[in-house]
Amino acid sequence: MTEPSIWTRMTAENPEHSAAYIQRFRDLAAAGQDLFGEARLVDAMLPRGSRVLDAGSGTGRVGGFLAGVGHAVVGVDGDPVLVAEAERQHPGATWLIGDLAELDLPARGVPEPFDVVVCAGNVMTFLAESTRVEVLRRMRAHVAPGGRAAIGFGAGRGYPFEDFFADAAVAGWATDLLLSTWDLRPFTPDADFLVAILRSG
Ligand SMILES: C[S@@+](CC[C@H](N)C(=O)[O-])C[C@H]1O[C@@H](n2cnc3c(N)ncnc32)[C@H](O)[C@@H]1O
Repeated sequence: MTEPSIWTRMTAENPEHSAAYIQRFRDLAAAGQDLFGEARLVDAMLPRGSRVLDAGSGTGRVGGFLAGVGHAVVGVDGDPVLVAEAERQHPGATWLIGDLAELDLPARGVPEPFDVVVCAGNVMTFLAESTRVEVLRRMRAHVAPGGRAAIGFGAGRGYPFEDFFADAAVAGWATDLLLSTWDLRPFTPDADFLVAILRSG
């Protein structure tokens, strides 16, 4: 049986968790914060009308922007409260409830492969540890040959970057580019954030 994600366990322990998360991002938007840096980088990787899988899409912050500029976006997230908010805020994309460790979109009527998977906002650090490689495998299974992934998360959150690099390789991803920010600063061994651009061979 698939081990529930850390996020799922947090929401079970605190039923207000998801609503508080939604409110935090509403407040940031109201304060004029730029919430679209990840999406702009991914947009720069793609021609218009590309197919984007937003893995751990939350409120649709990233995928919603990408749908808004003309990509075909499918977001998958395990938190039904956040998926409902994504549907409310971004009706132009497809938002599905599901565990990334069990991702099988053809079985849900989404047969076409994706050009890119975006996985932003520390999603990787909320996965159950036992599911990390499987999630990376399933992401890869959903991209077209030569398709890519843009995966970002912070240091000190329980998923050492070295472990991630090893897991990504086991899952069959090649590394195209390592950054330490979504605005293209290079990755260094002491970086406190990682943005990995991976390629399916
Ligand atoms: C901090 S939020 C980030 C949401 C979104 N990517 C963003 O950047 O705005 C982390 C998200 O990861 C999702 N998540 C974590 N593990 C998951 C899993 N195994 N399957 C599906 N979603 C998962 C949670 O439900 C939550 O919405």
